[in-house]
Amino acid sequence: MDRRPIGVFDSGLGGLTAVRQLRAQLPSENIIYFGDTSRVPYGNRSRDTILKYARQDMAFLRSFDPKIVVIACGTVSSNCLSVLQAEAGIPVIGVVEPVVRRAASLTKNRKVGLIATRASVSSGAYEGAFRRIAPAAEVYSQACPLFVPLVEEGHFRAGDRLIELAAEEYLPALKAAGVDTLALGCTHYPLLAEVIGQVMGADVALVDAGAEAAKECQAVLEARDALADAGQEGFADYYTSDRAADFQRLASLFLGEDVMSQARQIDITQY
Ligand code: DGL
Repeated sequence: MDRRPIGVFDSGLGGLTAVRQLRAQLPSENIIYFGDTSRVPYGNRSRDTILKYARQDMAFLRSFDPKIVVIACGTVSSNCLSVLQAEAGIPVIGVVEPVVRRAASLTKNRKVGLIATRASVSSGAYEGAFRRIAPAAEVYSQACPLFVPLVEEGHFRAGDRLIELAAEEYLPALKAAGVDTLALGCTHYPLLAEVIGQVMGADVALVDAGAEAAKECQAVLEARDALADAGQEGFADYYTSDRAADFQRLASLFLGEDVMSQARQIDITQY
């Protein structure tokens, strides 16, 4: 048993899709979430900048003495996971392998689509993981650089023409390739499931990066006998690097629960 919290971070709100799943699966765990909303999006930046930001995000979370950190960000996971793991001294989980394992288990025709930020796709991390885990799969990758800024601005619902136009720009080539499974390699994208489904069709299975990372986190904690006491009720504390009110306005949509009174703003440049 280990009462220390689980640390979770993302460039913004997308990682809350992992928190939602963690809270459902592991209600006894305490969670510290950091969303770097003053510097989102990470996905259009260089690897050096992403690593610099991710190290500060890790340092902030480490101040809470977490027992594990979930990098609930496809961009950081695909560009910096091994460096952050080597530096941490505690287990650090990314989203890439969990997403790829799930997609490989779902596809029947072995044609898999991957959508993610530009930095994630250009890192080659997802393709590399598919080559290791599912070498027979044909992988069709597409960067969707406008998705994260649009979601962070609240444009994610079906019927919102801005996000629908972006989906109509990015997704038809994957549809034409005949993929039967689409890996959402960015933790913001589960909010777009309906919009993505409108273009891809209901028969294409979607893989949720946040949910898969949460399952991986549970498996690692179980294997290390490091779950919290099942009798206690866990809490979640939320930190953001820009206005807490802006974070709170959208956070409940990602979480499916109200976090209005809980977000706190910190200065991430101090870490
Ligand atoms: N949720 C992050 C990811 O999974 C968004 C990255 C960004 O800030 O562009 O990649």
